[in-house]
Amino acid sequence: MSDNNITNNIFELNGVSYAYPQSETILNGLSLEIKAGERLSILGANGCGKSTLLKILAGLIFTQSGTFTAFGNKIEHKSFLGKASTEYHRKVGYIFQDSDAQLFCSTVYEELAFGPLQLGIPKDTVKTRIEELSAMLGVERLLDKPPFRLSGGEKKKIAIGSVLILNPDVLILDEPTNSLDPRSQAWLLRLLKSLSETGKTLIFATHNLDLVPQVSDRAILFSEEHEIAADMPVKELLHDAALLKRVNLVDERYHTHPWDFDQ
Ligand SMILES: Nc1ncnc2c1ncn2[C@@H]1O[C@H](COP(=O)(O)OP(=O)(O)O)[C@@H](O)[C@H]1O
Ligand SMILES: [Mg+2]
Repeated sequence: MSDNNITNNIFELNGVSYAYPQSETILNGLSLEIKAGERLSILGANGCGKSTLLKILAGLIFTQSGTFTAFGNKIEHKSFLGKASTEYHRKVGYIFQDSDAQLFCSTVYEELAFGPLQLGIPKDTVKTRIEELSAMLGVERLLDKPPFRLSGGEKKKIAIGSVLILNPDVLILDEPTNSLDPRSQAWLLRLLKSLSETGKTLIFATHNLDLVPQVSDRAILFSEEHEIAADMPVKELLHDAALLKRVNLVDERYHTHPWDFDQ
């Protein structure tokens, strides 16, 4: 934690650990701070705990030791009820790796309306917001369709829309470009860039190193021991082949960095 009481950290983790029932330790005493407006990637080999950390940040599961503080409040299972939980999920949007896990209504319109209606926002206001948002996402023609009929890219747009409609301060995205074709990926990267420019905090989990410099400035790298192996600027990390190899994120062929860091 900072010595200075005035900090713009939105998230502070101190010794956060987590194990699923009957699993080994998946998060092993993590300490880190995340500031408002940051663009952060969480990297690491499969199974190292990226999605688990995102779920802690999103208020979906709770640390079993140590503390997780968000917006100045300690987040604990026992006090995370009712209004506190609803308000948190409005401020912190989580986009699942698998869009099918996120979409459960019978039409796209209902999907986009669900969150705001739960928050008690009047139907007319919700309708106006959906019109604006669906124009921005280019999904107006999908509003009457059932989500299960959509393509992978369309589903991802609606999953993102169902979070953006609440105008969250923080967006947490788990492997956001997985299963997207190149055109949808390019669209998503443009959207994320414009969201970052409006000051939103963006947190990604990914093992796709091509994506990392395009969406983030800072990276947290997990080891296979479920600890933080590095917390450093993306540009430095992608040059550190030895470190990336040590955590089994890349293999022997990783010598150079084909990315254009200035794009
Ligand atoms: N609900 C669960 N119950 C038991 N084990 C789980 C559950 N979810 C994930 N795990 C296990 O926890 C480990 C870390 O998972 P995860 O956080 O999803 O890793 P990553 O996103 O880095 O691939 C994996 O070994 C996974 O099998
Ligand atoms: Mg994962």
